Amino acid sequence: MIGRKRVAILISGRGSNMAALIEAAKAPGYPAEIVGVFSNRAAAPGLEIAAAAGIATQSLAQSSFPSREAFDDAITAVLEGWGAEILCFAGFMRILSPGFIDHWLGRTINIHPSLLPLFRGLDPHGQALAAGATSHGCSVHFVTHGTDEGPVIAQAKVPVFPDDTAETLSSRVLKEEHKLYPLALAAVARGDVRFERGAAVR
Ligand code: GRF
Repeated sequence: MIGRKRVAILISGRGSNMAALIEAAKAPGYPAEIVGVFSNRAAAPGLEIAAAAGIATQSLAQSSFPSREAFDDAITAVLEGWGAEILCFAGFMRILSPGFIDHWLGRTINIHPSLLPLFRGLDPHGQALAAGATSHGCSVHFVTHGTDEGPVIAQAKVPVFPDDTAETLSSRVLKEEHKLYPLALAAVARGDVRFERGAAVR
């Protein structure tokens, strides 16, 4: 397919959402191709999955750089070397410098396992249970300066059952993440959803 958007995925861990995006991008009509996977952890299991799928991988560690800004500039150099047009954060556990966010603003999306704006940050499943939520889910959103704060592109909802633990809830949500993220990336790659003046516009 002509005109597929070039997408880089950034991970820190197991990479199951990354794998779902790689799988979806194999479909002939999918509007994006995965051109590289970056990790800030060399031991991230997702890197091996990506390499096995024939995708370029690179890891760099913050400890090799004198500052957060220098590290983030090096990440941008890797991503631009791949010709990335869109970034997908998929379990990328890193607070990025304002310069990085601004450079990629409107071109970076993230998946978070809650119905944003509810339960931002760490342990969203535990937060949902502690709040007595009766439904929960996941969101794909544009990345802006605040953690998990950017405008929402798409969401999927699941029920919360009385006997749920953070583990049972998280695995129910994860199944939805694997369906939602490819759909949301496709919508952004096609231009069906755009980032304009801080909002997601359809
Ligand atoms: C997912 O639940 C994602 O929503 C969150 O971190 C987890 C990453 O899992 N940001 P995986 O690495 O994609 O398997």
